[in-house]
Amino acid sequence: MKIFVPPIKSQGIKTKLVEWISSNIKEIKFDRWVEPFMGTGVVAFNVRPKKALLCDSNPHIINFYNALKDKEITSSIVKQHLIIEGEKLLKSDGKHYYEIRNRFNETGSPLDFLFLSRSCFNGMMRFNKKGGYNVPFCKKPNRFAQALVTKITNQVENISQIIENGDYTFINQDFKITLEQIESSNLVYSDPPYIGRHVDYFDSWSVDEEIILKNGLMKSNANFILSTWLSNKYRVNNYVFDIWKDCFVTTKEHFYHVGGKESNRNAVYEALLSNIPLTDSISNADMKFRIDSNESQLTSKPKTYSSPKQLTLTLEEQKPNS
Ligand SMILES: C[S@@+](CC[C@H](N)C(=O)[O-])C[C@H]1O[C@@H](n2cnc3c(N)ncnc32)[C@H](O)[C@@H]1O
Repeated sequence: MKIFVPPIKSQGIKTKLVEWISSNIKEIKFDRWVEPFMGTGVVAFNVRPKKALLCDSNPHIINFYNALKDKEITSSIVKQHLIIEGEKLLKSDGKHYYEIRNRFNETGSPLDFLFLSRSCFNGMMRFNKKGGYNVPFCKKPNRFAQALVTKITNQVENISQIIENGDYTFINQDFKITLEQIESSNLVYSDPPYIGRHVDYFDSWSVDEEIILKNGLMKSNANFILSTWLSNKYRVNNYVFDIWKDCFVTTKEHFYHVGGKESNRNAVYEALLSNIPLTDSISNADMKFRIDSNESQLTSKPKTYSSPKQLTLTLEEQKPNS
């Protein structure tokens, strides 16, 4: 499967999980794809439904995709912007990043948003309490060398075409409003901030919200799938067996690094929860039994990754008691 990578980056991006998600839902029929937490949109843009409602509480993501949809931003406009601002970045030895950041925090320009997303530290998307973007520079003044500009331009072109060929609506709204707009014939993909993990202002997430999400999804009568984590070396996400106890679960091993050392490579079991059986799913009760009896938590076939591909999960993990 050729994966189309969106031009915007964010922690929690599902690029490495898209193929697994797609293969698990290919038998499900639906008339509209709904995402209450679209993030970068990588899942929708690769599933490529005919019709989709894609929402997020982050206004900048939605502005960016609406600007692509309305052709206010095209691949050639992006190319020109990155070349001009990239040169200023290089000449200023990186200081121009902070001028763009200030300008973005005043105007909310989608082009500046893209510039920041691709030149900030670690591709993070983080905002302060006042909604100001506050990620520092990646410290590479020559960041927008020709190869990267071409890559981003192609990403913008591909995603623009996917949007043009579909009937996609992008709305900046809280998930509770999106829940009210679901119809029973829709398929909902929910990817909320992971419960019990590192969060920031735009990604704050409570147990109450997880319960509201579950109840809203059940009330809609639509088929749904939800991304979450099942376990890591230190602990199990017990909300899976509590809030989501009557669901099915599909898992996949996923790796992330803490620092650069191979010995610091940690595995996390990613889970897809659903209210209908998926290609590789088992019931949550069966999974609980497996965990309690120390059996494998893997429901999908293991896949071998080359080392660089393991550097994907940017969720921050803390050791217990640290
Ligand atoms: C894990 S990310 C989604 C990642 C996405 N699936 C991807 O692959 O890029 C979670 C998203 O939920 C959004 N979000 C957080 N709280 C929200 C809320 N209350 N309502 C709607 N969206 C919210 C965040 O802005 C973020 O984009």
